[in-house]
Amino acid sequence: MTKKLLMWDETLFRDPLVFEIDYVPEEFRFREEQISALSFQIQPALRGARPLNSLCRGPPGTGKTTSVKKLFEEIEETTNKIACVHVNCKIDNTRYAILAKVYKHLGGHQPQATGTSFKQVYDAACRRLQKDDKTLILCLDDANYLLYENEINNVLYPLLRVHEEYESVRVGVIVIFSDMDVDFSSIFESRVASVLRPTEVFFAPYSAAEVEEILRMRVAQGFYPGVVSEEMLQLVVDQTIRAGDLRVGIDLLKRAGLSAGMISAGHMRCPSGSISPPSSARSGMMRNLFLE
Ligand SMILES: Nc1ncnc2c1ncn2[C@@H]1O[C@H](COP(=O)(O)OP(=O)(O)O)[C@@H](O)[C@H]1O
Ligand SMILES: [Mg+2]
Repeated sequence: MTKKLLMWDETLFRDPLVFEIDYVPEEFRFREEQISALSFQIQPALRGARPLNSLCRGPPGTGKTTSVKKLFEEIEETTNKIACVHVNCKIDNTRYAILAKVYKHLGGHQPQATGTSFKQVYDAACRRLQKDDKTLILCLDDANYLLYENEINNVLYPLLRVHEEYESVRVGVIVIFSDMDVDFSSIFESRVASVLRPTEVFFAPYSAAEVEEILRMRVAQGFYPGVVSEEMLQLVVDQTIRAGDLRVGIDLLKRAGLSAGMISAGHMRCPSGSISPPSSARSGMMRNLFLE
Protein backbone atom coordinates (compact mmCIF):
# COMPACT_ATOMS: atom_id res chain seq x y z
CA MET A 1 0.00 0.00 0.00
CA THR A 2 2.72 2.44 1.03
CA LYS A 3 4.71 1.51 -2.04
CA LYS A 4 1.75 2.23 -4.34
CA LEU A 5 1.19 5.59 -2.71
CA LEU A 6 4.82 6.52 -3.04
CA MET A 7 5.19 5.45 -6.66
CA TRP A 8 2.07 6.97 -8.19
CA ASP A 9 3.77 9.88 -9.96
CA GLU A 10 6.03 7.70 -12.09
CA THR A 11 3.49 7.52 -14.87
CA LEU A 12 3.84 11.22 -15.69
CA PHE A 13 7.44 12.07 -14.85
CA ARG A 14 10.20 10.83 -17.08
CA ASP A 15 12.67 12.34 -14.60
CA PRO A 16 11.27 14.16 -11.54
CA LEU A 17 14.72 15.50 -10.58
CA VAL A 18 14.51 17.87 -13.53
CA PHE A 19 12.15 20.05 -11.49
CA GLU A 20 14.29 20.15 -8.35
CA ILE A 21 15.63 23.48 -7.13
CA ASP A 22 19.30 22.49 -7.43
CA TYR A 23 19.03 20.69 -10.77
CA VAL A 24 21.70 21.81 -13.23
CA PRO A 25 20.27 21.37 -16.75
CA GLU A 26 22.42 19.64 -19.31
CA GLU A 27 21.43 22.13 -21.97
CA PHE A 28 21.90 25.69 -20.75
CA ARG A 29 21.31 28.38 -23.33
CA PHE A 30 21.11 32.22 -23.47
CA ARG A 31 23.90 32.82 -20.97
CA GLU A 32 26.88 32.27 -23.28
CA GLU A 33 27.91 35.93 -23.01
CA GLN A 34 27.92 35.96 -19.20
CA ILE A 35 29.72 32.61 -18.92
CA SER A 36 32.36 33.72 -21.37
CA ALA A 37 32.86 37.00 -19.44
CA LEU A 38 33.33 35.03 -16.22
CA SER A 39 35.69 32.58 -17.84
CA PHE A 40 37.79 35.46 -19.24
CA GLN A 41 38.33 36.68 -15.67
CA ILE A 42 39.49 33.25 -14.55
CA GLN A 43 41.78 32.53 -17.51
CA PRO A 44 45.00 33.96 -15.96
CA ALA A 45 44.77 31.18 -13.37
CA LEU A 46 45.28 28.58 -16.12
CA ARG A 47 48.73 30.07 -16.69
CA GLY A 48 49.60 30.28 -13.00
CA ALA A 49 48.78 34.01 -12.74
CA ARG A 50 46.27 35.70 -10.44
CA PRO A 51 42.67 35.62 -11.68
CA LEU A 52 40.48 38.70 -11.84
CA ASN A 53 37.33 39.14 -9.77
CA SER A 54 33.72 39.36 -10.93
CA LEU A 55 30.49 40.72 -9.59
CA CYS A 56 27.31 39.12 -10.97
CA ARG A 57 24.10 41.00 -10.65
CA GLY A 58 20.56 40.29 -11.81
CA PRO A 59 17.06 39.55 -10.50
CA PRO A 60 16.26 36.10 -9.06
CA GLY A 61 15.79 33.29 -11.57
CA THR A 62 18.03 34.71 -14.29
CA GLY A 63 20.57 31.88 -14.30
CA LYS A 64 23.36 33.36 -12.16
CA THR A 65 23.90 30.33 -9.93
CA THR A 66 23.55 27.89 -12.82
CA SER A 67 26.02 29.84 -14.98
CA VAL A 68 28.67 29.64 -12.28
CA LYS A 69 27.98 25.95 -11.65
CA LYS A 70 28.26 25.21 -15.37
CA LEU A 71 31.52 27.13 -15.59
CA PHE A 72 32.91 25.37 -12.52
CA GLU A 73 31.99 21.99 -13.99
CA GLU A 74 33.90 22.86 -17.14
CA ILE A 75 36.95 24.12 -15.27
CA GLU A 76 37.09 21.01 -13.15
CA GLU A 77 36.92 18.82 -16.26
CA THR A 78 39.73 20.83 -17.87
CA THR A 79 42.33 21.35 -15.15
CA ASN A 80 43.28 20.27 -11.68
CA LYS A 81 45.20 23.48 -11.09
CA ILE A 82 42.07 25.40 -10.13
CA ALA A 83 39.88 24.63 -7.13
CA CYS A 84 36.34 25.94 -7.66
CA VAL A 85 34.26 26.41 -4.53
CA HIS A 86 30.64 27.53 -4.64
CA VAL A 87 29.24 28.82 -1.35
CA ASN A 88 25.56 29.50 -0.76
CA CYS A 89 25.78 32.45 1.65
CA LYS A 90 22.20 31.94 2.70
CA ILE A 91 23.49 28.81 4.45
CA ASP A 92 27.13 29.65 5.12
CA ASN A 93 26.87 33.25 6.19
CA THR A 94 29.96 33.80 8.34
CA ARG A 95 33.58 34.05 7.30
CA TYR A 96 34.34 31.00 9.44
CA ALA A 97 31.67 28.88 7.72
CA ILE A 98 32.88 30.02 4.30
CA LEU A 99 36.51 29.15 4.98
CA ALA A 100 35.51 25.83 6.53
CA LYS A 101 33.72 25.03 3.28
CA VAL A 102 36.79 25.97 1.25
CA TYR A 103 39.05 23.89 3.47
CA LYS A 104 36.77 20.89 3.26
CA HIS A 105 36.57 21.19 -0.53
CA LEU A 106 40.37 21.20 -0.73
CA GLY A 107 40.37 17.79 0.86
CA GLY A 108 40.81 18.80 4.46
CA HIS A 109 38.71 17.41 7.27
CA GLN A 110 35.73 19.33 8.51
CA PRO A 111 37.29 21.60 11.16
CA GLN A 112 36.01 21.07 14.69
CA ALA A 113 32.90 23.13 15.27
CA THR A 114 34.21 24.55 18.53
CA GLY A 115 37.64 25.70 19.50
CA THR A 116 38.87 26.41 15.95
CA SER A 117 39.30 30.06 15.03
CA PHE A 118 38.77 31.66 11.63
CA LYS A 119 42.51 32.25 11.40
CA GLN A 120 43.27 28.58 11.96
CA VAL A 121 40.92 27.44 9.20
CA TYR A 122 42.16 30.21 6.90
CA ASP A 123 45.80 29.19 7.50
CA ALA A 124 45.01 25.53 6.95
CA ALA A 125 43.25 26.32 3.64
CA CYS A 126 46.13 28.54 2.46
CA ARG A 127 48.76 25.94 3.32
CA ARG A 128 46.77 23.38 1.38
CA LEU A 129 46.54 25.66 -1.69
CA GLN A 130 50.26 26.31 -1.43
CA LYS A 131 51.15 22.63 -1.14
CA ASP A 132 48.91 21.59 -4.06
CA ASP A 133 49.89 24.67 -6.13
CA LYS A 134 46.23 25.38 -6.87
CA THR A 135 44.42 28.64 -7.52
CA LEU A 136 41.18 29.10 -5.58
CA ILE A 137 38.12 30.49 -7.34
CA LEU A 138 35.51 31.19 -4.70
CA CYS A 139 31.93 32.03 -5.58
CA LEU A 140 30.00 33.84 -2.86
CA ASP A 141 26.46 33.24 -4.07
CA ASP A 142 23.59 35.36 -2.74
CA ALA A 143 26.17 37.54 -1.01
CA ASN A 144 23.45 39.85 0.28
CA TYR A 145 23.33 37.43 3.24
CA LEU A 146 26.83 38.65 4.13
CA LEU A 147 25.81 42.24 4.50
CA TYR A 148 24.96 41.88 8.20
CA GLU A 149 27.78 42.73 10.59
CA ASN A 150 29.96 43.66 7.63
CA GLU A 151 30.77 39.99 7.06
CA ILE A 152 31.31 40.56 3.35
CA ASN A 153 34.33 42.78 3.99
CA ASN A 154 35.54 40.55 6.80
CA VAL A 155 35.73 37.55 4.48
CA LEU A 156 36.95 39.32 1.34
CA TYR A 157 39.77 41.30 2.95
CA PRO A 158 41.97 38.37 4.06
CA LEU A 159 41.23 36.41 0.88
CA LEU A 160 42.06 39.22 -1.52
CA ARG A 161 45.24 40.08 0.36
CA VAL A 162 46.25 36.48 0.86
CA HIS A 163 49.53 36.96 -1.07
CA GLU A 164 50.81 39.31 1.63
CA GLU A 165 51.06 36.35 3.97
CA TYR A 166 51.19 33.41 1.56
CA GLU A 167 53.15 34.68 -1.38
CA SER A 168 52.36 31.94 -3.89
CA VAL A 169 48.65 31.59 -3.08
CA ARG A 170 46.25 32.93 -5.71
CA VAL A 171 42.55 33.61 -5.09
CA GLY A 172 39.83 34.97 -7.36
CA VAL A 173 36.26 35.65 -6.30
CA ILE A 174 32.88 35.74 -8.00
CA VAL A 175 30.36 37.63 -5.89
CA ILE A 176 26.67 37.21 -6.78
CA PHE A 177 23.86 39.57 -5.82
CA SER A 178 20.18 39.07 -6.62
CA ASP A 179 19.09 42.18 -4.77
CA MET A 180 18.95 44.93 -7.36
CA ASP A 181 18.80 47.72 -4.78
CA VAL A 182 22.25 47.02 -3.39
CA ASP A 183 24.56 49.99 -3.81
CA PHE A 184 28.02 48.50 -4.40
CA SER A 185 29.86 51.74 -3.82
CA SER A 186 28.72 51.71 -0.21
CA ILE A 187 29.06 47.97 0.48
CA PHE A 188 32.77 47.47 -0.02
CA GLU A 189 35.18 49.25 2.29
CA SER A 190 37.97 51.04 0.46
CA ARG A 191 40.56 48.53 1.73
CA VAL A 192 38.53 45.79 -0.02
CA ALA A 193 37.36 47.77 -3.06
CA SER A 194 40.94 48.69 -3.98
CA VAL A 195 41.91 45.03 -4.43
CA LEU A 196 38.54 43.60 -5.49
CA ARG A 197 38.14 45.84 -8.57
CA PRO A 198 35.52 43.48 -10.04
CA THR A 199 34.19 43.31 -13.56
CA GLU A 200 30.41 43.48 -13.44
CA VAL A 201 28.46 40.79 -15.27
CA PHE A 202 24.79 41.57 -15.66
CA PHE A 203 22.05 38.94 -15.93
CA ALA A 204 19.02 40.57 -17.56
CA PRO A 205 15.58 38.95 -17.21
CA TYR A 206 14.91 36.41 -19.97
CA SER A 207 12.72 37.50 -22.88
CA ALA A 208 9.32 35.86 -23.37
CA ALA A 209 10.70 33.71 -26.21
CA GLU A 210 13.63 32.59 -24.05
CA VAL A 211 11.36 31.68 -21.12
CA GLU A 212 9.21 29.64 -23.48
CA GLU A 213 12.15 27.77 -24.94
CA ILE A 214 13.69 27.03 -21.54
CA LEU A 215 10.41 25.70 -20.12
CA ARG A 216 9.75 23.70 -23.28
CA MET A 217 13.14 22.01 -22.87
CA ARG A 218 12.40 21.30 -19.22
CA VAL A 219 9.05 19.73 -20.10
CA ALA A 220 10.71 17.51 -22.72
CA GLN A 221 13.29 16.34 -20.20
CA GLY A 222 10.99 15.91 -17.23
CA PHE A 223 7.70 14.53 -18.57
CA TYR A 224 6.73 11.77 -20.95
CA PRO A 225 5.64 12.97 -24.41
CA GLY A 226 2.12 14.35 -24.54
CA VAL A 227 1.80 14.98 -20.81
CA VAL A 228 1.87 18.77 -21.15
CA SER A 229 -0.33 20.24 -23.86
CA GLU A 230 0.74 23.27 -25.86
CA GLU A 231 -2.09 25.25 -24.30
CA MET A 232 -0.89 24.42 -20.81
CA LEU A 233 2.69 25.26 -21.59
CA GLN A 234 1.55 28.69 -22.75
CA LEU A 235 -0.28 29.23 -19.45
CA VAL A 236 2.86 28.38 -17.51
CA VAL A 237 4.96 30.62 -19.74
CA ASP A 238 2.54 33.54 -19.21
CA GLN A 239 2.60 33.14 -15.43
CA THR A 240 6.39 32.86 -15.43
CA ILE A 241 6.79 36.03 -17.45
CA ARG A 242 4.40 37.86 -15.13
CA ALA A 243 6.41 36.71 -12.10
CA GLY A 244 9.73 37.47 -13.81
CA ASP A 245 11.38 34.38 -12.27
CA LEU A 246 11.99 31.09 -14.08
CA ARG A 247 11.64 29.21 -10.81
CA VAL A 248 7.92 30.02 -10.83
CA GLY A 249 7.43 28.16 -14.12
CA ILE A 250 9.54 25.18 -13.09
CA ASP A 251 7.66 24.94 -9.80
CA LEU A 252 4.27 25.19 -11.55
CA LEU A 253 5.23 22.32 -13.84
CA LYS A 254 6.32 20.18 -10.92
CA ARG A 255 3.15 20.86 -8.93
CA ALA A 256 0.90 20.26 -11.92
CA GLY A 257 2.68 16.98 -12.62
CA LEU A 258 2.33 15.84 -9.03
CA SER A 259 -1.34 16.81 -8.78
CA ALA A 260 -2.27 15.27 -12.11
CA GLY A 261 -0.36 12.14 -11.17
CA MET A 262 -2.33 11.86 -7.96
CA ILE A 263 -5.63 12.14 -9.82
CA SER A 264 -4.62 9.55 -12.40
CA ALA A 265 -3.39 7.20 -9.65
CA GLY A 266 -6.84 7.31 -8.12
CA HIS A 267 -8.27 5.76 -11.28
CA MET A 268 -5.48 3.60 -12.59
CA ARG A 269 -3.15 1.02 -11.24
CA CYS A 270 -0.25 1.56 -13.59
CA PRO A 271 2.94 -0.46 -13.54
CA SER A 272 5.92 1.73 -12.92
CA GLY A 273 7.02 3.61 -16.05
CA SER A 274 4.05 2.71 -18.27
CA ILE A 275 2.19 5.51 -20.01
CA SER A 276 -1.35 5.36 -18.83
CA PRO A 277 -3.93 6.87 -18.82
CA PRO A 278 -3.82 8.06 -22.46
CA SER A 279 -1.77 11.20 -22.89
CA SER A 280 -4.74 13.32 -24.01
CA ALA A 281 -6.55 12.52 -20.76
CA ARG A 282 -3.50 13.41 -18.72
CA SER A 283 -2.88 16.71 -20.40
CA GLY A 284 -6.57 17.44 -19.92
CA MET A 285 -6.17 16.88 -16.19
CA MET A 286 -3.22 19.19 -16.02
CA ARG A 287 -5.03 21.88 -17.98
CA ASN A 288 -7.91 21.79 -15.52
CA LEU A 289 -5.55 22.12 -12.61
CA PHE A 290 -4.24 25.33 -14.06
CA LEU A 291 -7.55 26.85 -14.98
CA GLU A 292 -9.13 26.21 -11.61
N1 LIG B 1 19.19 29.46 -19.53
C1 LIG B 1 18.59 28.53 -18.79
N2 LIG B 1 18.30 27.32 -19.32
C2 LIG B 1 17.70 26.37 -18.56
N3 LIG B 1 17.34 26.53 -17.27
C3 LIG B 1 17.62 27.72 -16.70
C4 LIG B 1 18.25 28.77 -17.41
N4 LIG B 1 18.40 29.83 -16.58
C5 LIG B 1 17.89 29.47 -15.41
N5 LIG B 1 17.42 28.21 -15.46
C6 LIG B 1 16.75 27.48 -14.39
O1 LIG B 1 16.00 28.41 -13.62
C7 LIG B 1 16.15 28.18 -12.24
C8 LIG B 1 16.78 29.39 -11.58
O2 LIG B 1 18.10 29.57 -12.08
P1 LIG B 1 19.29 30.07 -11.14
O3 LIG B 1 20.57 29.84 -11.86
O4 LIG B 1 19.17 29.44 -9.80
O5 LIG B 1 18.94 31.63 -11.05
P2 LIG B 1 19.52 32.76 -10.10
O6 LIG B 1 20.75 32.22 -9.45
O7 LIG B 1 19.79 33.91 -11.02
O8 LIG B 1 18.42 33.07 -9.12
C9 LIG B 1 17.01 26.92 -12.09
O9 LIG B 1 16.15 25.83 -11.93
C10 LIG B 1 17.75 26.84 -13.42
O10 LIG B 1 18.01 25.49 -13.77
MG1 LIG C 1 21.04 31.91 -7.34
